[in-house]
Amino acid sequence: MSAGGTELSAPGPRHNPRHVAIIMDGNGRWAARRGLPPSAGHKAGVERIRDLIEACRDRGVEALTLFAFSSENWQRPPKEVELLMSLFHSYLRKEAQRMREEGVRLRVIGRRDRFSPRLQRAIVEAEEITREGAGGNLVIAADYGGQWDIAQAARALAEEVAAGLRSPESITEQALGDHMQLADLPPVDLLIRTSGEQRISNFILWQAAYSEFYFTDTLWPDFGESALDAAIAAYRQRDRRFGGRNEGGIAAQA
Ligand code: IPE
Ligand code: IPE
Ligand code: MG
Repeated sequence: MSAGGTELSAPGPRHNPRHVAIIMDGNGRWAARRGLPPSAGHKAGVERIRDLIEACRDRGVEALTLFAFSSENWQRPPKEVELLMSLFHSYLRKEAQRMREEGVRLRVIGRRDRFSPRLQRAIVEAEEITREGAGGNLVIAADYGGQWDIAQAARALAEEVAAGLRSPESITEQALGDHMQLADLPPVDLLIRTSGEQRISNFILWQAAYSEFYFTDTLWPDFGESALDAAIAAYRQRDRRFGGRNEGGIAAQA
């Protein structure tokens, strides 16, 4: 990831995305195909992350947001949840220092209160260690839900109204958006989901309003640099109109 330059300030069909978000799905199926338990898939999945951060940086991506654990994933079997929590903890402990050296700033989005105090501490420490990183942003969405995100923004605004700090009329799309996670980062240009599923599974509902979606059958533990390149190449072909009409489009032919 890079800090970004002027050539990246106007994302469009000719530009690489500034912000990529990924629903990292398919660990269970990757493992099942090898006759292994889901835990093996989750371990292999974590291993992909380091290379992907590097690949994004090389391609001028300023922010990478990874969906690691949804608010619904607590419904998984307790043993699997336990393993995912322990992988998350060891990932933070192992990788934060490396990120600091590489200038990557890490943040975790989602509810934190359902994590163990030990994991909550590891999150705070990793964010603290990487705070000065100016070479790119890595966002890990854990115990995250898009509906929770909208609700917490609404609650924050309601508290401001109750405290007499703002009027109900001041609650606009802009005001709500400013209270959502990722508000300070460039908009999510490209949203990738691996493993063939074509749904959002309560990921960034608000922030994906004008994201380009890219679905691939590749399972997350197999998603490498060439898979990322295929996604970016598809993105660059897209005609992003944002509700308008681009020159050379239908209007030009009429
Ligand atoms: C994604 O892989 C990882 C998490 C949801 C934590 P899955 O575990 O959902 O993999 P599949 O969908 O069962 O293959
Ligand atoms: C979405 O994947 C959550 C993450 C990748 C972290 P799931 O595997 O939980 O989603 P569903 O159940 O297929 O919708
Ligand atoms: Mg899945």
